[in-house]
Formats: sequence, C-alpha cells, structure tokens
Amino acid sequence: MIRVVLRMGDPRLLQPSRPIADFGTPELAALLQDLRDTMAVENGAGLAAPQIGVPLQVVIFGVEQNPRYPDAEPVPYTELVNPVLTPLSMAMEEGWEGCLSVPGLRGVVPRYQEVRYEGFDPLGQPIRRDVSGFHARVIQHECDHLMGILYPMRMRDLSRFGFTDILFPGVEGEE
Ligand code: NI
Repeated sequence: MIRVVLRMGDPRLLQPSRPIADFGTPELAALLQDLRDTMAVENGAGLAAPQIGVPLQVVIFGVEQNPRYPDAEPVPYTELVNPVLTPLSMAMEEGWEGCLSVPGLRGVVPRYQEVRYEGFDPLGQPIRRDVSGFHARVIQHECDHLMGILYPMRMRDLSRFGFTDILFPGVEGEE
C-alpha cells in the first residue's frame, strides 16, 4: 500500500526508532510491502520506516539508473533491519543529497567515504557489507532517519542548499 511520506517539520521524523524484535512476521512483511510501494511511486533512492510514520529500524534502498543521481554508481536493492554502521576510516567526502521528506530540495552533505553496515534481512539472515562512495552515502542517510536525523541537520554550508529545479535545470524528478 502506498503510504503518505512525512515531511520535515513533523516531529515523528525526529524520534529515534526501535529495533525489530521478531523476524519473518506478517507485520514486518506488510511494512516492507508498504515501503516498496511508496518508494517506487516516489522514485526514491531509499526510504526508512519512520518516514511513513512507523518508528521501527527498517530501511530499504537501491539505485539503478536514477536521473536524480546521474553520476552515482548503482546500489543493489536492499532491505535492512536493525542496521549498525561503522566508519572504516575517518575520511569524509561531500555530495548532493535529496530526501522524500524534504521534497523539491537538494543539499551538499559531508559523509564518511567508507563504512561497514551490519544488520538483518526481513527473515533474520545477517547482512554485512563494506561499501564506499554513493552506496556509503545512501546507507548513512537512511540510518540517520532511524536516529531522527534529516540531512539538512548534517549540512555545514547552507549556501549549497536549494531547490532542485534551480540547482539542476533539466533534471527530471521531484527530488
Ligand atoms: Ni531521506
């Protein structure tokens, strides 16, 4: 079911999410279906459960060829539960981000270049990956949602924050 995506200003986006206690349940399967349906219709790179008003540690993400991120390498579609992020070095890099909860805007956000993420798939099978670049950026953005952090809260230079259609004329898509 397509759900309404909460927008910045809604206090539910600022609350930390709880871990999932039971895997393989009908409730978790229904939540993932809603996340998939909603991310697909919004053409997003990722979506976290709190963005649809569910304060649980569940994120989905994946990028094939997205006109919003023309230079980004593909990110495999992933459903991740109870993620834990560990930076693999202290090196940071800046890059443009958008968010379905901050529609119509983009901003430059510093992120770790390389991170390890660990967690579980919806059936409880462990997932562990070491990633870099855009993949690392996406997972850091999604895990921030589980801590109640939106990307503008990570920005250091608000002069590089603006409306997508002004910043990137001709780029299709809402974000
Ligand atoms: Ni987001």
